[in-house]
Amino acid sequence: MAKNKDYTFKYNQNLGRHGWLRLTPAYSVKLVEEILGEDNLFSKKKISSGTVFDPFCGTATTGIVAAEYGLNSMLYEINPFLYWFSTAKSQNYSSVDIDDQLTHIKESLNSDHYKEYCKSWIPPMKNIERWWDSITLEHLGKLHEFLFEELGGPTIRSSVSNLAWISFARLIIESSAADFGHISVSFKETCNSYEETEILSLFIKSLEYISDSAKHSLKGNVKIISGDSRNVCLDEKVNYVITSPPYPNRISYIRELRPYMYWLGFLNSGEEAGELDWAAIGGTWGSATSKLSTWKCDTSWSKPACLTDAVNKIRESDSKNGKTLAQYVLKFFYDIYLHFKNLIKNLENGCELYYILGNSSFYGNMVHTDLIICEIMKSLGYKNPVAKVIRKRNSKKELFEFQIEATWHT
Ligand SMILES: C[S@@+](CC[C@H](N)C(=O)[O-])C[C@H]1O[C@@H](n2cnc3c(N)ncnc32)[C@H](O)[C@@H]1O
Repeated sequence: MAKNKDYTFKYNQNLGRHGWLRLTPAYSVKLVEEILGEDNLFSKKKISSGTVFDPFCGTATTGIVAAEYGLNSMLYEINPFLYWFSTAKSQNYSSVDIDDQLTHIKESLNSDHYKEYCKSWIPPMKNIERWWDSITLEHLGKLHEFLFEELGGPTIRSSVSNLAWISFARLIIESSAADFGHISVSFKETCNSYEETEILSLFIKSLEYISDSAKHSLKGNVKIISGDSRNVCLDEKVNYVITSPPYPNRISYIRELRPYMYWLGFLNSGEEAGELDWAAIGGTWGSATSKLSTWKCDTSWSKPACLTDAVNKIRESDSKNGKTLAQYVLKFFYDIYLHFKNLIKNLENGCELYYILGNSSFYGNMVHTDLIICEIMKSLGYKNPVAKVIRKRNSKKELFEFQIEATWHT
């Protein structure tokens, strides 16, 4: 089976709001369209009413596609930056406000005031010189301070100023040495050096693109909730759950998102990064790894045999790190179990659930995410969980992405 880029975040890059920021954890718009639309992998139908829920919102792909179909949705997200970004990304804006802001920013950046402005701010990111050279950093730091004075910082209130901050977030990645050729962010050998005029023109180009796509109103309403999907508590019951949780593959969203989070004020230190990562499912960066060694699984949980088998094999495979990785996999699925258990009270009778997830491998031992999740769902009373392969993720290893579908009946 061929690797299918249409089913990854790459598909979203030129699709209006979906292309605002390039984020590896995002899934493809196409996946959600196929579930809501007529080419569903499982059946042919069109969903035209009911509330959609995404407990692992990320960049709000599910909510925005649902809104494009005229459906209302609720989304949960634990990461403060993604909560802010998704909220800003899924709001409707007045075209007049958007145009006024664009004109104002263009004039301000052309003014003598900006030319003479000499404040600058650099975030306290470790090894920042791997991302930007000192000249580029100075220009970014100056623009950051200026925008902050002109607009205030990113805000959870509905404000066009958030569009400028999203443009700034695009700019920091475009001007960095980040290399997205791998599943996790890596670095090019050298950083490019940008002149001030180049930085400002990249920023304006992004702001124009984002401003233009923000004028296209969404038909449905998207409500983003800052919360933990292990403990979902919604105001109303939902008809569809469409989501992609973290995978058990040790990708840290805080690590991936750290340039945005530091520059936009959502992260201030390495300690904070470890705390935030530990709070998320699958968090394993910095202090989150050491916390795994003392974490204890609830002994009353009767876990699937295929999970016990994988965990035991991983533990025995390496005397140095086997125990930590076994704990990591066990905690990941225990958290997923808590999610499914506490989700039930929020589901309408007949609710359809669609989960996009990948399997993983540690020391050559496969973690069969698809089988484990189906077993967890069955044990909690979900009906007919089935998994289908969507795509192969890696040409060498047996790594796949699955769509797991089930229903809930009271
Ligand atoms: C695979 S990403 C979702 C990507 C999303 N489908 C998109 O298109 O952007 C998983 C998300 O789950 C979030 N997450 C992890 N643990 C969580 C928790 N306990 N509660 C809510 N969200 C969580 C992560 O921060 C991450 O944004």
